[in-house]
Amino acid sequence: MAKQSSNIALVTGATGFIGSHLTHHLVASGWRVHIIICPNSTLQQLQLVRDSITVHIHDGTTEGLFAIVKSVKPRVVFHLASLFLAQHTPGDVVSMLQINITFSTQLVEAMIAHKIYHLLNTGTSWQHYENKDYSPVCLYAATKQAFEAILQFYVETTPLQVITLKLFDTYGLNDPREKLFTLLEKTARQSKELPMPPGEQLIEMVYVDDVVEAYMVAASRLQNGEFRGHERYEVSTGSPLKLKEIVEVFEQETGIKLAIRWGGRPYRDREVMVPWNKGDLLPGWKAKVGIREGIRRIQSGRQ
Ligand SMILES: NC(=O)c1ccc[n+]([C@@H]2O[C@H](COP(=O)([O-])OP(=O)(O)OC[C@H]3O[C@@H](n4cnc5c(N)ncnc54)[C@H](OP(=O)(O)O)[C@@H]3O)[C@@H](O)[C@H]2O)c1
Repeated sequence: MAKQSSNIALVTGATGFIGSHLTHHLVASGWRVHIIICPNSTLQQLQLVRDSITVHIHDGTTEGLFAIVKSVKPRVVFHLASLFLAQHTPGDVVSMLQINITFSTQLVEAMIAHKIYHLLNTGTSWQHYENKDYSPVCLYAATKQAFEAILQFYVETTPLQVITLKLFDTYGLNDPREKLFTLLEKTARQSKELPMPPGEQLIEMVYVDDVVEAYMVAASRLQNGEFRGHERYEVSTGSPLKLKEIVEVFEQETGIKLAIRWGGRPYRDREVMVPWNKGDLLPGWKAKVGIREGIRRIQSGRQ
């Protein structure tokens, strides 16, 4: 990719799984990268680029975000920070709304105040349970939808341009999250039996490099002024596999037979049996890494 040295990116969620991969890619592509973290964030995932990025610690206030946006003057804001919980407890409500709605709105308010109008937002396929236009799988998905509703106000009243990328399951190297492949790897290491639901649900697994590429294509689209308002795209392979099939491929590619007790635990409430498939694909983007190739990349990246 050509160097874009004049481009300044402001990234939220840069310490997370996708955000850290995106940050590495932006740095390698010549962007000047600023990230916003909270006081208790660690930069574990960003060690290789630590000296190439500028870190801003947000104190939680709107004024704090105003000062950050004013000093950075980003060309594009990549907003990935979020609290994801598939199932929440009453004690999670405040922190989930704080990041997914309050922080997100403070960020947009700061952008508008400083005439920064390019926002890449991150949504989830879980806003579309049973393929509906809107039906949240869980409270987390409802907060993503609520923020989109808030964005509507800014889009209608200011020059703000937004692309929301709606993500599905993601996987890749250096994944600190408790997700499917990290769980399978842990099971393999510990040689323990793993109770799983019956495994008939279809899952969209998108390799992290493809997800990062979607952000880059969307960033170009924003900067090229190819549209006005708010566009939404799904970031999917279009080829979901059953959970059982994914585990089978994992076993074949790693040569490890896992002790899985299918049906050892029930499906979740509102388990997604068929992923949302009514979104539009981002023009100019297509997933390139199939599941076998993705598993191989993880295996070889570790050696
Ligand atoms: N990965 C998926 O499969 C998937 C699917 C659908 C949608 N998404 C969306 O994609 C985005 C990235 O997901 P991910 O899996 O990479 O997330 P992740 O690994 O859980 O990372 C979440 C990020 O949000 C940051 N964050 C949380 N609270 C914050 C706060 N109060 N202030 C500033 N930053 C805060 C975290 O920072 P610290 O850890 O440093 O606190 C971290 O960098 C999220 O918006 C998520 O909802 C992901």
